[in-house]
Amino acid sequence: TKVNPTIIIIFGANGDLTKRKIIPALYNLFLENRLPEKFAIIGTSRTEFTDEKYRDSLLTGINEFSRTGKAKKEDWDKFSSNISYQAANIKDVASYNEFYLKVNTLKEEWKQDPSVLYYCAVSPDLFCTIAENISKSKLENNKETTRIIIEKPFGRDLESAKALNANLLTIFDEKQIYRIDHYLGKEVVQNVMAFRFANTIMEPLWNRTHIEHVQISVTEQIGVEDRGSYFDNAGILRDMIQNHLLQLLCIIAMEPPVNFDADLVRDRKVEVLKAMRKIVPGMIDSVAVRGQYGAGWVEGKEVPGYREEVDVAGDSNTETYAAMKFYVDNWRWQGVPFYLRTGKRLFESASHIIIQFREVPHNIFNNDERNLPKPNRLIISIQPDMAIRFQLESKTPGLEMTLNTVDMVFDYSGKTKIDSPEAYETLLLDVISGDQTLFMRADQVEAAWEVVMPIINYWEDNKMTNFPNYPANSWGPENAEALIAKDGFHWINVPKK
Ligand code: BG6
Repeated sequence: TKVNPTIIIIFGANGDLTKRKIIPALYNLFLENRLPEKFAIIGTSRTEFTDEKYRDSLLTGINEFSRTGKAKKEDWDKFSSNISYQAANIKDVASYNEFYLKVNTLKEEWKQDPSVLYYCAVSPDLFCTIAENISKSKLENNKETTRIIIEKPFGRDLESAKALNANLLTIFDEKQIYRIDHYLGKEVVQNVMAFRFANTIMEPLWNRTHIEHVQISVTEQIGVEDRGSYFDNAGILRDMIQNHLLQLLCIIAMEPPVNFDADLVRDRKVEVLKAMRKIVPGMIDSVAVRGQYGAGWVEGKEVPGYREEVDVAGDSNTETYAAMKFYVDNWRWQGVPFYLRTGKRLFESASHIIIQFREVPHNIFNNDERNLPKPNRLIISIQPDMAIRFQLESKTPGLEMTLNTVDMVFDYSGKTKIDSPEAYETLLLDVISGDQTLFMRADQVEAAWEVVMPIINYWEDNKMTNFPNYPANSWGPENAEALIAKDGFHWINVPKK
């Protein structure tokens, strides 16, 4: 499809997100010829830079963070000739009139009306300020071609999320607002839709009759790094579960949409969140576990405990690990537990979704321990390994009838992996072409907050007395094991390739 000439104005252009993710993604799209023929990137932040200096700072980011490695001079020169910089105070409407002049000059030069995308790569308390100033300035707010991109956190709780949505919606239509949940742009995550709905053999099995339980696990080896002040005010439940993990759950649990239309797909996801069993305060301790990391060793280096991290309170009650059990109360999923876990400073960084099928109804083999057929599993590995594997039982070659678990694997190794776009490439291309399928709609964000609010409130009201309760480089607190073990299961740690 032909895409409109596009201007991207990046607020927070000197920040980490811009250098690590946004610019490398745009650069790779450029290398793949996916950007519109006419495009311009205007960076803005408080710091003064010449265009030249600003471009240099971005090049350093590309060389360090781009999946395609160091930029070739010729490519970079071509790409970066489209980048300019404008120091500005984003709280001041006058700055927006400067952007207006730039946009207008390009418009005249291109002799075409461009799409204008505002990327708010800034702290969330500035989202509304930016939106308001756009509307107060001379900048055009064309419902078809003006878009605003924001990144989580979308509020700190249900109430503030509603206020944020309401405020943005006084200025922009929902179809102009692109709320990023970068997990939705990950290659393997997108493949779940293809895997489920482009095959006939999956859907008949995809329900309570055949599936025993589901695990969604996103573990990270890193600690809070330099984000202590944000994280200490958030915690892992807000940082990861409210958005990324619940979105993964939605993709697994959703009904088939009629087609790939953005709203139809998102309707099906919202229905999952609405069907999730309400968690009542009296039951929280039996369905949700929290943890906080202590000091320890990671790869030969001593690392501090969470409470010793920069910008973290010395007696912080903030959780850096969470595990919980949810149910989706509908026909498809009644009685099937969904276990979610995520945490920082864990033994390894890995994201997997594991679907465990029911046991065979009757074992025809002998009663020898070795011959009990193990339940089949479908393991969807999102990162760092990218693969979808079926674990099946099979006869061990030999004279006896003994069983053995084997894998049927779709593996994205080698070239496929290198060629797989990064989440931000997919997502930015979607914003440029105006496709909202992978973006969070206002009601999705609010429905997800509704699911987690009881736990957030309960955890805030009931402080932990034994934090920290897991050492760095472990699999998290012990009671997370107990949470799942009492149902007869265990957390499945998928071995690395
Ligand atoms: C972000 C969280 O949304 O996702 C971070 O704020 C987390 O705390 C990150 O580290 C994980 O993303 P990824 O893509 O590295 O798994």
